[in-house]
Amino acid sequence: MCRVGLLTVFGVFLVCGARAEVCGSIDVRNSVSQLNKLENCTEIAGTLFIVLIEKTKSEADFEPYVFPKLQKVSEYVVIYKVTHLTSLGKLFPNLRLIRGLNLLVEYSLVLYNLPNLLEVS
Ligand SMILES: *[C@@H]1O[C@H](CO)[C@@H](O)[C@H](O)[C@H]1NC(C)=O
Repeated sequence: MCRVGLLTVFGVFLVCGARAEVCGSIDVRNSVSQLNKLENCTEIAGTLFIVLIEKTKSEADFEPYVFPKLQKVSEYVVIYKVTHLTSLGKLFPNLRLIRGLNLLVEYSLVLYNLPNLLEVS
């Protein structure tokens, strides 16, 4: 079963099979395994923080974590002090919209102190 929806004027999304699961704000910190909090979310109604994950040994630590279900965040996303994270696109291949209904100062996406980041999408 597929559901087609119009997200914004910029994109159309398609959800097949899986039911939409709207999560509240999610805070991932200290350990990469905390990313599992995101496993079922198709949408975050609120904010996403991924912060202070500095004990990773290599980029391979992020390989098990891929969240293709996540498509939307309604407020803002902060990724701060995460070592060995090289790609946001690998983590969230289908994240298409950060709506910015509430901002951090004046930003909806904050990427700060990510020493190994190479690509955002
Ligand atoms: C995700 O869904 C599975 C299956 O319903 C459940 O066992 C698991 O606890 C859920 N994970 C989270 C983080 O809610």
